[in-house]
Amino acid sequence: MLNDKFVALGVTGSIAAYKSVELVRLLKKAGARVQVIMTKSACEFVKPLTFQVVSQNSVITDMFREPSFWEVEHVALADKADIFLVAPATANIIAKIAAGIADDMLTSTLLATKAKIIVIPAMNVNMYENPITQRNIKSLRTNGITVFEPEEGELACGYTGKGRFPEPRDILEQLNIVLGKDGDFKNKKLLITAGPTREPIDPVRFITNHSSGKMGYALAEKAIHRGADVILISGPTNLDPPLGLYKYISIETAEEMFRAVMEYYLEADVIIKSAAVADFSPKHRESEKIKKQGFNMNIKLNKNPDILQELGNRKKQQILIGFAAETSNATTNAQDKMKRKNLDFIVLNDLTQEGAGFAGDTNIVRILHKDGRIEELPKMLKKELADEILNRVYLYLQQNRTF
Ligand code: C5P
Repeated sequence: MLNDKFVALGVTGSIAAYKSVELVRLLKKAGARVQVIMTKSACEFVKPLTFQVVSQNSVITDMFREPSFWEVEHVALADKADIFLVAPATANIIAKIAAGIADDMLTSTLLATKAKIIVIPAMNVNMYENPITQRNIKSLRTNGITVFEPEEGELACGYTGKGRFPEPRDILEQLNIVLGKDGDFKNKKLLITAGPTREPIDPVRFITNHSSGKMGYALAEKAIHRGADVILISGPTNLDPPLGLYKYISIETAEEMFRAVMEYYLEADVIIKSAAVADFSPKHRESEKIKKQGFNMNIKLNKNPDILQELGNRKKQQILIGFAAETSNATTNAQDKMKRKNLDFIVLNDLTQEGAGFAGDTNIVRILHKDGRIEELPKMLKKELADEILNRVYLYLQQNRTF
């Protein structure tokens, strides 16, 4: 979303201005071009040179301005910007924007821009909660400006409460969500399952597998960034659910996943079953921890419901995608699975290859389509692969619309 975008970043006089330096670094890393504009008081907190180095661009300040020149420059910059951020935004700048004041480079450019404006407040809790500031924020929002909620916590002024500038990586995540709202998955609902399931033997032991959940979480995150409403049903993982989910359902067993999926699949346009569902579960779950002494070494197993098979049987207009992890006869087995489970395509991990499969950040897959096409994808990050998979889902959604 930020790649190749021209971001104008207004920095105002808050102690949180130093955090915006990191924000610029992350914006640059995401491929954006960044033009920083600092107010006079921002320059009291951080030197323009710092932003200049990190943004690899000159910094506009009001300190040595030449009026005849900047009058024109601010309009050019206002036109050029794709996104206009004000971060951190003080109560003062929020009041000025609400009132339409244009008395310096930042406010003049803001008033002239047609870019999407996003304001990220940071201030003392009492200033933030003051009805005047709240009224001004409301006024910004009614004029189409996005205003992020500040975080609660310790503030630089010694108070504790709402007013903290969010962590730059969280800001970037939120930006991706806001900017993705009009993406190619707008108005589409995706149900994604992720992670392993855990089948209890007794209160301390269980049967599970090596799934980390990384692939499913990457799919959920990228789909959100493309504007989708995402329901993520996840087994136990060490991952934080991505921001901006429509719904997050945490489950433990295959049976729980089955019930959750059946509750939500009807509202989904697309279902991606990237979870590694345990195929068997102990027939009896012992209520007490099994003692070593006297244990007869036999655990009777039941077959778990095949969720994807059930979805395939019930499928109507939904796009249905499965995953397969194979160690032998990979393509034939996966093709067979795709047909049996009535899928649109299946993503095949060949577990024998280095860089493919469960725990790592990369994957090597083959995509097998229902019309017989087979695509070999090179080794790539799971996040990149998530976009590749979504690109194909998008094509299927388009086809559904035309027929
Ligand atoms: O048949 P196999 O387990 O190899 O198929 C893998 C695909 O089926 C995955 O997409 C997985 O999420 C799904 N699956 C399921 N329910 C099961 C077993 C697998 O939905 N009980």
